[in-house]
Amino acid sequence: MTRIEIIFATNNSNKVKEIKSVVGEQLNVISLQEAGINQDIPEPHDSLEANASEKSAVIHAITGKNCFSEDTGLEVFALNKAPGVKSARYAGDHRDFQANIDLLLKNLAAETNKIAQFRTIISLIWQGNEYLFEGICKGIITMEQKGSEGFGYDSIFIPEGANKTFAEMSMEEKNKYSHRKKATTQLIDFLKKQI
Ligand code: IMP
Repeated sequence: MTRIEIIFATNNSNKVKEIKSVVGEQLNVISLQEAGINQDIPEPHDSLEANASEKSAVIHAITGKNCFSEDTGLEVFALNKAPGVKSARYAGDHRDFQANIDLLLKNLAAETNKIAQFRTIISLIWQGNEYLFEGICKGIITMEQKGSEGFGYDSIFIPEGANKTFAEMSMEEKNKYSHRKKATTQLIDFLKKQI
């Protein structure tokens, strides 16, 4: 079987682990670290789509290779879809997961509507052309943190159809619901058609 080599333009090892757990044998996903690229990629834009595009464009310009990137945000409806594209830096540039959760729970305390969604955009650059894929996972924010798996806002998010937070799930369980898994499935389906 031919394995397609593709660079995943991220420095987030959790995301690399999650993506590697769903891609299967056909795709050989190489992290930036494995590709020997030691560079922080900027996320300066005000949409997930623009940030994802920038990240894959930067890595494509450096390597000339097929690559993809993803940008994910937690969109809380009572907060006009904040923190959204600012999810990593909601409480400041130090990118502190716990500070972000604390601020979100504070801002949501007076709201009755706790509905939220994770939204992932993948930007793929394949043979020089860009393709975008989207994955959404709807759910609710719990006001009490539960679980120790995962990362980011996992401990306060219960996906629709489940009765526990992402942080109380194994990676396999999270993948049944996950925004990233949904976007990745589309990426893989696309790539399978190309080979
Ligand atoms: P990024 O900009 O795509 O790296 O992600 C922004 C932020 O969203 C991360 O720093 C996390 O706080 C949060 N995030 C992204 N994906 C997930 C997830 O699957 N679970 C929980 N939080 C996430």
